[in-house]
Amino acid sequence: MQLPKEHTVLRIVPAASDVNAAGDIFGGWLMSQADIAGSIVAARHTKGRVVTVAVNDFHFISPVFIGDVVSIYGEVEKIGTTSIVIAITVYSERKLQKNIEAIYVAIGHFTYVHLDKSGKPLAI
Ligand SMILES: CC(C)(COP(=O)(O)OP(=O)(O)OC[C@H]1O[C@@H](n2cnc3c(N)ncnc32)[C@H](O)[C@@H]1OP(=O)(O)O)[C@@H](O)C(=O)NCCC(=O)NCCS
Repeated sequence: MQLPKEHTVLRIVPAASDVNAAGDIFGGWLMSQADIAGSIVAARHTKGRVVTVAVNDFHFISPVFIGDVVSIYGEVEKIGTTSIVIAITVYSERKLQKNIEAIYVAIGHFTYVHLDKSGKPLAI
């Protein structure tokens, strides 16, 4: 599998501190990276301050391992009055034998609220 053609919002490599005792990457680490990526897309769109109000859903499809390069993509799915839903897809690139393969690892939806300077919801 190849990575999607559109621009990655975030590309990161998990560190040793992101794994549990069995050597697997914590799901919470991946969710927090996805939240950061979603907030970048939401802030770009609203051109202002945003805050996460909900993780609508998040599905872990394949595990991420140490040594993977994680690429996160995000796009605007829905715009409300003050809220915006960002669809997130996550891929991991991994060396398998001689080739680097992209693996589809997670999908989710995050809702952000556009805020004014005092922290109150502001129309987008
Ligand atoms: C975000 C926050 C300002 C919204 O305040 P609020 O009083 O709930 O505001 P509203 O009821 O007017 O809702 C604002 C928008 O968020 C949406 N919303 C609120 N709760 C939601 C939820 N659980 N899921 C999806 N959307 C939600 C509303 O539908 C509304 O969208 P719309 O304007 O497009 O119709 C407030 O809940 C807050 O500060 N939460 C903490 C956020 C935070 O700290 N996040 C980081 C956690 S570490």
